[in-house]
Amino acid sequence: MATESYTLERFIADLDRITREETSAEVVTERAAPLLARLVRQPGSIPAEYLRAPAGRRGRFMLHRAPRFNVTSVVWRPGDRAPAHNHETWGVIGVIDNEIEETRYRVSAGAGGRASLDVLRVMRHKPGDVSRLVPGDEVHAMHNPTGRDTVEIHVYGRDLAGLRRKTWADDGTETPLVSPKYLNC
Ligand SMILES: [Fe+2]
Repeated sequence: MATESYTLERFIADLDRITREETSAEVVTERAAPLLARLVRQPGSIPAEYLRAPAGRRGRFMLHRAPRFNVTSVVWRPGDRAPAHNHETWGVIGVIDNEIEETRYRVSAGAGGRASLDVLRVMRHKPGDVSRLVPGDEVHAMHNPTGRDTVEIHVYGRDLAGLRRKTWADDGTETPLVSPKYLNC
């Protein structure tokens, strides 16, 4: 078993089955996380052209787009950040190469129409690690604090294009996050 390869096609087939069998975000991510861990640890499971950032831009590549889930690769360049944001769905994020810093927040109503963001935890994910996003605990910020590119696979339970989401500045100012373009984070 240890030498048996795990492919993107098998991962997609497994996710297809899991998301037919389960609707609970908790259960879906619990079952998907070890499979994603296996995928990101498998050398060559994702074609190399989807693991490199184009010159001067963050890498974002759609690997599978379907009604119940989608799979993308993301390449964060040194210093790249995504401020605190929500997802309105479940997610699993696995690291292929290098590392990423993820900060989880609890958002509550603050004074003056601003939200109050409390840091729940700050995590440093390394190759093979998988982070689960489950509604109720899915507001996060991402940062590549290292000097080289970080490569990840992101899986979400909804298509993020056009989805009405939110992002928050450090002072709690809330901004709608809706993009006609597919955002992978
Ligand atoms: Fe995100």
